[in-house]
Amino acid sequence: MTAQSALPTGTDLRAEIDRLRKDRNAVILAHYYQKPEIQDIADYVGDSLQLSQLAADTDADVIAFCGVKFMADTAKILSPEKIVVLPDMDAGCSLEDSCPPDKFRAFREAHPDHIALTYINCSTEVKALSDVIVTSSSAETILQQIPESQKIIFGPDRHLGGYLNRKFNRDMLLWPGVCIVHEAFSESELLKLMQQHPDAPVAAHPECPPHVVEHADYVGSTSGILQFAKTFPGDTLIVATEPHIIHQMEKALPEKNFIGAPGADGNCNCNICPYMALNTMEKLYTALRDLEPRIEIEEGLRLKAKQSLDRMLEMASGTIGMGDLGRV
Ligand code: 13P
Ligand code: SF4
Repeated sequence: MTAQSALPTGTDLRAEIDRLRKDRNAVILAHYYQKPEIQDIADYVGDSLQLSQLAADTDADVIAFCGVKFMADTAKILSPEKIVVLPDMDAGCSLEDSCPPDKFRAFREAHPDHIALTYINCSTEVKALSDVIVTSSSAETILQQIPESQKIIFGPDRHLGGYLNRKFNRDMLLWPGVCIVHEAFSESELLKLMQQHPDAPVAAHPECPPHVVEHADYVGSTSGILQFAKTFPGDTLIVATEPHIIHQMEKALPEKNFIGAPGADGNCNCNICPYMALNTMEKLYTALRDLEPRIEIEEGLRLKAKQSLDRMLEMASGTIGMGDLGRV
């Protein structure tokens, strides 16, 4: 019998999660791509950088991480004395999967004069092989602190790396990974939508391919896109990132119209992250009740991975979004 099927019929999940959160002295962290009911019960909703910063600073005994595994791993790396639970341990990421540590090590060894600037969407092993970690909201600030003469390899997201190369006229060597969700946005469907809403700006995440990003009025992280949604002067916004973030936009600005950019045939669910979607209220409840599934990381590996994350937190301080956490 699975933990989920052991739930007594009629359990009031919201009330039980609340009770357990207090009993366990737990903090619930949720990424903007989580289902609305999870965002609504979380203590904090944020982007990857904000959630990492919060995990490093919290005085809770338990972190219930409603996001994907690399995010919960990051929380454990930064807060090893805490119990970190992830409601579904299969909540992975296509970018992490694209970058096996042995291949990444070989790539690094083939370019000994390059430093490794690495997107946080990767395994703990790859973080341990990297010099500095970035998130989409800290990448620009951090890259600008690295001298232009310094050779860099950037992985695993070739679209974020390519965007940074174009914007800052750099020539970082790119690992060939992609996010399957942002890769699925269709340029032709986006152009049709733009024709239907000629006054609506487009906000896109830099994980989108160049043929989507080039149509965007604003390119940035989830928290950056949310900030843009709160400040753009019009009444309709086209949003080219995982559509669950629209929940926060509709809560903040119910009078405005937010339209998710379409996937390949204009009608698929391919722009919903299948990994993020694995977390449910039931699984969050059982994770808090059983304190499982729990993140464990071998200490030597953790300390190596922490170095590149600590560099990120230092170099990113002052970045928009740092400290501006969305308590709900
Ligand atoms: P940010 O929330 O940091 O923009 O990252 C988006 C993402 O894809 C997380 O998996
Ligand atoms: Fe990974 Fe893309 Fe899902 Fe983010 S949206 S967790 S990058 S697969």
